[in-house]
Amino acid sequence: MRLLRFHTRTSLTTSLRCAEFRHPATFSPMIVAIDGPAGAGKSTVARAVAQTLSFTYLDTGAMYRCVALARMRDADCDLDSLKIELDDAITLNGEDVSDAIRTPEVTELASQVAAEASVRAAMATRQAALLASGDWVAEGRDIGTVIAPHAELKIFLTADPQERARRRAEQTGRDLSEILAEQQDRDRRDGERSLSPLVAAGDAVQLDTTTLSADEVIRQIAELAAAAINGGGPQ
Ligand code: DC
Repeated sequence: MRLLRFHTRTSLTTSLRCAEFRHPATFSPMIVAIDGPAGAGKSTVARAVAQTLSFTYLDTGAMYRCVALARMRDADCDLDSLKIELDDAITLNGEDVSDAIRTPEVTELASQVAAEASVRAAMATRQAALLASGDWVAEGRDIGTVIAPHAELKIFLTADPQERARRRAEQTGRDLSEILAEQQDRDRRDGERSLSPLVAAGDAVQLDTTTLSADEVIRQIAELAAAAINGGGPQ
């Protein structure tokens, strides 16, 4: 699997510069886990935090979406042989599916396949193998609770359901009330499933993004990461 590695270093604050001076020989690898429901801002924020820290970004939702797309095309597809690459483009068995995995149909099916034990086990194995070495910002629903409970920093992003749906409608141009209804269904399914339901880890920092700009959320998380890098942990 190929992944998106950010090399550009951008400074937000003086404290973040400390993060830039981490040296692989001196510091052990670090994982920043960002979990939360759809529309809380995880993708925008996780991507930017990874870029700021020069960590690798892992979008685990994209992996479930790839499984959903593969299932739509072939109900009997073999999970273990699916080649999923997360780079600038997301590819499934070599095909660029960056747009195809974002359709409402795939979004709905992804939430369904994510409740299946065999799918979760297969994705968990891949994710754990990736996170075993290197520095990561990983986003999903169960990163801080199941996949990387040892993560040095765990963030649980939330936002008011209306605001989450409004953001999705703005991104997609789709009808707000339709999005809200679908979101309620997915929230319920993701939160109530028996396997790895969406819950905040006990030691996660909870951030309500309803009234915050993306830049403000990115700044707060990057500062928490800088504190964790410097041995302070979340304040
Ligand atoms: O974050 P997203 O909307 O791209 O995720 C797609 C679906 O995958 C979503 O319904 C929840 C599920 N998912 C999950 O169960 N566990 C994860 N770690 C990531 C996503």
